[in-house]
Amino acid sequence: MATMESLIGLVNRIQRACTALGDYGGGDQAFSSLWDALPSVAVVGGQSSGKSSVLESIVGRDFLPRGSGIVTRRPLVLQLQKLEDGQQEYAEFGHMPRRRFTDFALVRKEIQDETDRITGKTKQISPVPIHLSIYSPNVVNLTLIDLPGLTKVAVEGQPESIVEDIENMVRSYVEKPNCIILAISPANQDIATSDAIKIAREVDPSGERTFGVLTKLDLMDKGTNALDVLEGRSYRLQHPWVGIVNRSQADINKNVDMIAARRREREYFATSPDYGHLSSKMGSEYLAKLLSRHLESVIRARIPSITSLINKSIDELESELDHLGRPIAVDAGAQLYTILELCRAFDKIFKEHLDGGRPGGDR
Ligand code: GDP
Ligand code: NA
Ligand code: MG
Repeated sequence: MATMESLIGLVNRIQRACTALGDYGGGDQAFSSLWDALPSVAVVGGQSSGKSSVLESIVGRDFLPRGSGIVTRRPLVLQLQKLEDGQQEYAEFGHMPRRRFTDFALVRKEIQDETDRITGKTKQISPVPIHLSIYSPNVVNLTLIDLPGLTKVAVEGQPESIVEDIENMVRSYVEKPNCIILAISPANQDIATSDAIKIAREVDPSGERTFGVLTKLDLMDKGTNALDVLEGRSYRLQHPWVGIVNRSQADINKNVDMIAARRREREYFATSPDYGHLSSKMGSEYLAKLLSRHLESVIRARIPSITSLINKSIDELESELDHLGRPIAVDAGAQLYTILELCRAFDKIFKEHLDGGRPGGDR
């Protein structure tokens, strides 16, 4: 399915270009509907439930600040763009578009610094997102959003309103119909008290766009297991639950790398007396595949509406570029051209696809 992959890749690039345009303060209104039409995946859950760890495992790279307490204090919009095998992996921030990061430890540091730039070195949160793109041969085309953890009480140094502020911020992402919800719950807590499930149930009662992820299986009390949750008896969703074993804090302190962590996770499931029979449908690699397959089917179903929005955008862009009499930032003009080119490319590939069969392809 080279075509689907290139369409998803284009969708990603259009999203990025729209974001960049928004950053220059031009035209963001016109394109927010285009952005909203494109699906993304938001990671939600309680504080320290393992959200950032799951995201890193999906990407296959260490680059996020992680740890106990409130570490993620601004939304991180993460765009993964697949490169050809053998191409150099790198990352780029929306707020410094001309700098390519190849050292992912520096990516982590920049996320921390950029968080502090807006919030100060406090435990405050901010709804202003950080945009990060990762280009790599080892990723699938996905847009993922890491969000601050839901909490039940404010801690020292935080205003009382923080509990509600975080919940409202998370809700503003997950209530969008095109948002796929990655609901993270730790296995060592009762699923009935899961913040992730609570908010997912509120915005997606039928469970059609919620993926339940159970972390910390390795931390459950001896003699207990999570089969009731993983087999959908505790809380039913349309998609299957996925169990995960991320690195512990001790592993992080010992610098256990991602490859070793993935191998250990695979071994954990393969040799587990409780989960052995589910092992091919557990773990972060499986989750990444499940998500990208789902995203593909969502985009496939949305192609008609995305196409008509894109055609509308092409018209708007052409007339906007024609009538560029008013002063406009050079960068914004360049971004408009970029979006126009990307939209045309999408339209072209889509039409070729259409020639090969009916819209939506060979389902
Ligand atoms: P977040 O606050 O939800 O983003 O959670 P983090 O990903 O920052 O993880 C919080 C802490 O829990 C870190 O110390 C992780 O190492 C640890 N952790 C996360 N998932 C697991 C897991 O599956 N097993 C173990 N043992 N520890 C985990
Ligand atoms: Na945390
Ligand atoms: Mg986090």
